[in-house]
Amino acid sequence: MDWKELLPLDRGQMERALRGFPEMAERALGLACRIPNGVQGFKNAVVLGMGGSAIAGDLLARFARVPVMTVRDYFLPAWVGPETLLIAISYSGETEETLSAFREGLRRTKRAVALTTGGALAALCEEEGVPWVPIPPGFPPRAALPSLLFPLLACFARFGHLAGDPAVIISSLKKLRDALLPEANPNPAQRLAEKLQGKVPVVYGAGVAVPVAYRWKTQINENAKQPAYWAELPELCHNEIVGYELAGKVFPQGVMIFLRTSFDHPRVAKRVEILKEVLFQRGLPFQEVWGEGPDPLSQALWLLYFGDWVSFYLALLNGVDPTPVALIQELKNRIRGC
Ligand code: PA5
Repeated sequence: MDWKELLPLDRGQMERALRGFPEMAERALGLACRIPNGVQGFKNAVVLGMGGSAIAGDLLARFARVPVMTVRDYFLPAWVGPETLLIAISYSGETEETLSAFREGLRRTKRAVALTTGGALAALCEEEGVPWVPIPPGFPPRAALPSLLFPLLACFARFGHLAGDPAVIISSLKKLRDALLPEANPNPAQRLAEKLQGKVPVVYGAGVAVPVAYRWKTQINENAKQPAYWAELPELCHNEIVGYELAGKVFPQGVMIFLRTSFDHPRVAKRVEILKEVLFQRGLPFQEVWGEGPDPLSQALWLLYFGDWVSFYLALLNGVDPTPVALIQELKNRIRGC
């Protein structure tokens, strides 16, 4: 495969964004100072967001030492109150679900912060005297994940609420980038993308890899414009696997992908080995990708960044520009007119 020939498909410059992921994360660490110490003293947090903005909340929740819930909806759970830190994330600042839940949240707690490039969310913060972190504009929201996630990780670390150190991950992300750039040879992300072409990936993760499995699914949807699904371990051992019985007939393009970390619970690791045997016996294809790094946070972000590259190469193999998300835009336009 001559990847150089496919690169002109990338008219929206997703490769440039992916290439700059580690540096974007590095710069974003510095944005944490925009979240004032005054919000401290919270007992729990909710992250309000949708799509490419919300995933930062899922990742934060896995590593926070206080309960964190991501809310992808117009309204908030009943327990949100004065001891909750409200975090609104919207890259555009225009997402109606996020704005609606944030307005409701500001009536329940004074501890609030927003991360956005501007828009109605920044205007609301100015009006209400809520601090907001100015996120660099010019990217698709999903490609700006480092700018949305790392200020939160660094801020939670500063408050003593984080398991892991976001600063130590940057160098391993840079190393991974060098191994996955279009010109890298051999290139494991390109190899995996080739195996997924014409297939329907079903991405599995456990523990810290759960939000990463979801990110893989959504990145394959949005970048490669194709169906993809996900499920989490060990839960999938209690339902999803029964579908393997007819999968060969009704889901012949399915390919399961196990995202693994060396921090998987030992019983989960055993379950994966059994599942691989079950899939093999039924002739159902699967792949396995192991995260690298000294701690769970590093391995999760390693897997995430690897998956972003896989979805990029899959887009090129599918003959599509990874950046545009026409149907998301169409839906936003149509609902705005209702
Ligand atoms: O990837 C995307 O473009 C979407 O998933 C958006 O992130 C989502 O629609 C929410 O928009 P925003 O991130 O601007 O709040």
